[in-house]
Amino acid sequence: MISKYYPEYLQEYKNHEYVENEYGFATFELTPDAIIIGDVYVRPDYRKQGFATEIITDVCAIGRKQGCKHIVATIYMGYAGKEISLLAALKFGVKIISAGADKIIVAKEL
Ligand SMILES: CC(C)(COP(=O)(O)OP(=O)(O)OC[C@H]1O[C@@H](n2cnc3c(N)ncnc32)[C@H](O)[C@@H]1OP(=O)(O)O)[C@@H](O)C(=O)NCCC(=O)NCCS
Repeated sequence: MISKYYPEYLQEYKNHEYVENEYGFATFELTPDAIIIGDVYVRPDYRKQGFATEIITDVCAIGRKQGCKHIVATIYMGYAGKEISLLAALKFGVKIISAGADKIIVAKEL
């Protein structure tokens, strides 16, 4: 089991907040202008039912309240879930900001 202190670590070391429900979670950083998505995870049995979209929508609401204007995510080409992550991000309405051999950066106005 991962340490119950991991959220504290994320907060202190990476300045990451998180949102979770019984289906999954997202970590993110709030900067004055943008929400920067860290990790997104939905448990396998609950995928393709809109839960990632729901969680990211909640993250957007938090960011908007803090005055953020954009949501930004980086999809790393070395990760197993890169295709699904990109499809999910595009379905969410992001635009591709930059695409390189190692990563694709996407963003959406809030
Ligand atoms: C990526 C992930 C978070 C998506 O979660 P999810 O709850 O299944 O996503 P949603 O149901 O909100 O899907 C939103 C859209 O993403 C796309 N999508 C999601 N899963 C897909 C799949 N298996 N194949 C194709 N498109 C997919 C679809 O466009 C979908 O919209 P639609 O169902 O209306 O067609 C989930 O698959 C996951 O946890 N994967 C493992 C961890 C990971 O790779 N995280 C991302 C990097 S941090």
